[in-house]
Amino acid sequence: MAETTLDVRGLPKAEAWAQLEAQLASLLGGVGDDDIAAMATISCVVHQGFGHLWTGFYRVVEPALLRVGPYQGTLGCLEIAFGRGVCGMAAAERRTVVVEDVEAFPGHIACDGRSRSEIVVPVLGRDGALVAVLDIDAAERGAFDDEDARALERIVGWFARTSVVDKRA
Ligand code: SME
Repeated sequence: MAETTLDVRGLPKAEAWAQLEAQLASLLGGVGDDDIAAMATISCVVHQGFGHLWTGFYRVVEPALLRVGPYQGTLGCLEIAFGRGVCGMAAAERRTVVVEDVEAFPGHIACDGRSRSEIVVPVLGRDGALVAVLDIDAAERGAFDDEDARALERIVGWFARTSVVDKRA
C-alpha cells in the first residue's frame, strides 16, 4: 500500500474533512470488521491530518467505564468513568460534546496541560450500543465546531455499519 497520511492544515474545513474522509473510506475497506484496526487507522489519519495534541479512542469495557484504546499523542488517562470529564459526559449522554474552552468546563480531565479545547464523539456499534468515544484535544481555544462534529460522526459511522461488537454479544 503506497498511501501516506495527509496534512490538511490550512485547508478550509470542508475540504480538509472531505480529503480525510475519502482516504479513510479507502483504508477502512481494508480492515474487515476489526474495530481496533479501524480505531488505530482513524486516530492516525485524523491526528496526522490536523496535528492536534491528542486523537484517539476510549473503549467501553464495563457498563460505565471507559479504557484507553488506540490513539496518537502524549500519554492519555488510562480509565475514565462515565460522567467524568468530557469523555465521560459524551459517553453517559451518548452525544457529541464540543468544549470551546476546557478551563470553563467543570470537571475537565487535564491529561495534557496544553489542552485548550476538545471534541468527543460517541461511537455506536451495529446494535446501537455505545462501544467507545472518539476524543480530540487541541492546543487552541475553539478549535472545533459543528462541521467537525458532523464529519467525525460520519467517520465513526463505520462502527455502526461494521463493528465487531456483535461478536461480543
Ligand atoms: N480531557 C479528557 C480526558 C482524556 S484526555 O485528555 C486524552 C476529558 O476531560 O474527558
